[in-house]
Amino acid sequence: MKTRQVAVGDSFMNVAVEGSGHPILFVHGFPLDHSMWRYQFEEFAKRHLVICPDLPGFGSSPASHTPMTMQSLAHQIAALLGALTVNKPVVFCGLSMGGYVGWQFWRHHANRLSHLVACDTRAANDLPEVARGRKLAALNVRKTGTRPVADAMVEKLFYRPDHPEKKSVAESVHQVILQTDPESIARGQLAMAIRPDTTTWLKQIEIPMLWVVGAHDTITPPDEMRANADLVAGSEFLKISRAGHLAPLENPGEFNRGLAAFLD
Ligand code: MLT
Repeated sequence: MKTRQVAVGDSFMNVAVEGSGHPILFVHGFPLDHSMWRYQFEEFAKRHLVICPDLPGFGSSPASHTPMTMQSLAHQIAALLGALTVNKPVVFCGLSMGGYVGWQFWRHHANRLSHLVACDTRAANDLPEVARGRKLAALNVRKTGTRPVADAMVEKLFYRPDHPEKKSVAESVHQVILQTDPESIARGQLAMAIRPDTTTWLKQIEIPMLWVVGAHDTITPPDEMRANADLVAGSEFLKISRAGHLAPLENPGEFNRGLAAFLD
């Protein structure tokens, strides 16, 4: 995926952009980058303008001067769309942390949004013990660097990361995490720890919405996502086989067919 640096406010964002038509914005999870959408990028660029940014502090986007919150990330994405002169409402497709940013995008930038796709994510905020774990993880990554995070996360993100079918994508995700600035990982954890509960917003969503989850996702399990989906009238729900938390990367064929059918 060819990327470029785009000036956004007083900083830059690294972004891959291709195609033309109804814009789709793919927003990565934590602590990943645009490359997790590699199997969607070319496929959807055949009929859409596809935009895959690195969120500030991740991939090759420099960290922002603004404190990181899910809301500030949503504002930065809206500013990126402005900088790219994308004025038509977009399909916002966010995975996990990208989904947390999606709720804020829906809340604060509704005029920029036509469809919402929530992948392997949830509307609830953290339980107190989870938030405490994130604060500890932020302290630890500043001390130990990214290797322990990369090793532990790959095990959790994928369904069967050692399976021959998964090995090369699991290794590439491991590399992305290894190369992420530990400070951004710490800031991301702290930002997720203070994110608000957005469950009550779900009943107010009136745009077309799709939920997608890996059948073996243990981070945001299918049952929890199904319960969230039931709160959005008319939303569609798709379970992807042979996939854990990274459904678009683990089973791109099934994911892409589902997303294309939703957008048709
Ligand atoms: C992600 O994939 O973005 C993370 O698992 C989100 C989280 O830690 O809640």
